[in-house]
Amino acid sequence: MGAPAWRFKSNELNYLHQVIENGFRAGTDGSFNQRLERLWSDKHDVPYAVTFNSCTSALHSAVLALGCGPGDEVLTPALTPLMCGLCIHYSGATPVYVDSDPKTFLMDPKDLESKITSKTKAIIIVHMYGGVCDLTSLIAIADRHRLPIIEDCAQCVGGRDGQGRLSGTTGTISCWSFENSKQLTCGDGGIATCHDEELTTRLRKIGGLGFKNLTASAGKVRTDRDQFQDPEWERFDSIGYNYRLGELAAAVALAQAEQLEMYIGLRRAMGEAYRRVLSKSKLLRPQVQPEGFYYTYYTFSAKFCGEDQGISWYDFRKKHMEYGGDGIFAAAKLLHQEPALRDNKIGNGKTPVAVDLQKRLMNFTTNQADQAEREVQLNALSKALKYFGDEIGE
Ligand SMILES: Cc1ncc(COP(=O)(O)O)c(C=O)c1O
Repeated sequence: MGAPAWRFKSNELNYLHQVIENGFRAGTDGSFNQRLERLWSDKHDVPYAVTFNSCTSALHSAVLALGCGPGDEVLTPALTPLMCGLCIHYSGATPVYVDSDPKTFLMDPKDLESKITSKTKAIIIVHMYGGVCDLTSLIAIADRHRLPIIEDCAQCVGGRDGQGRLSGTTGTISCWSFENSKQLTCGDGGIATCHDEELTTRLRKIGGLGFKNLTASAGKVRTDRDQFQDPEWERFDSIGYNYRLGELAAAVALAQAEQLEMYIGLRRAMGEAYRRVLSKSKLLRPQVQPEGFYYTYYTFSAKFCGEDQGISWYDFRKKHMEYGGDGIFAAAKLLHQEPALRDNKIGNGKTPVAVDLQKRLMNFTTNQADQAEREVQLNALSKALKYFGDEIGE
């Protein structure tokens, strides 16, 4: 792969200079955090957005804002990074693990509904690998049981379901990540959106140390200077965390978000090209993208079926890399398989499909800069498939 700096050739340096030159004071356009929030809520047509220093902190704040705590259960897919279990555990609630659909690898609505109890307080749905969940079924279930949905879009910015619904616009609260590997990045960072003013105020206060001046639409902690410096002034009226996004990171995230469509276009070009190469494959079954859905390929995920033919996951990966392919990523262990949760006996719920998928998944890189870089990956994959006697699509 080429020099990774190609991802930061837009307004990133310009905005960083502005933050420093302004001595970290808000410029005439408002702070970069505010500008990022405005752009994000406009792009998603959701009234409120709040920046965070990670998606994990956004998710934790979302779980708390929805009132989850000890004695409550929160449903989450098992096939997702640890943070989705952690954010529930941090709140004192219990994570309940939901199985995956074997074709889309995403949350299985039937299994979800079977795990709802009188203790269930919220549902976290996760658009894994850039795929978009079956929103129609999930929303119907949530509505039937009057449960809020937290939409985890860390791996899927700009995706759409078959009805054209944009990822992150239907959740009660939706959260994204700007961590290094994501479609848009500022190193580490996050953002959440919400439709409800009161809930957004809670969300912002939880992430903003509980400053009483914080509101749904404003992250400013000082209003009038004389009032703020009055010895009688009380600053904090609730318990919060320091989950704020720094201005330097917000400046980079804003520059990235301005180029959202370009970054998605690149990821999709790679993802759709892998899909074509694998259209006749018996060894690798891509994450199914149902008719009319629009995936944004944080990674290109496929189920490896070679073991049934005596070909090991490891041998295929090695051959792909020998032919010049990037390292294929394994799926992270399921939440309840990770020692952090397993050994501390945190959470419950059996997920046989996800257990099988986790061992087989191969996640291919999609962060190529141009067609030349894409060709390297496609050639490597084609050669590896051919080596193991598989058929290559167009
Ligand atoms: C699905 C999912 N949720 C949450 C997170 C947490 O994001 P962050 O690293 O910004 O805390 C990640 C990050 O890898 C993720 O992939």
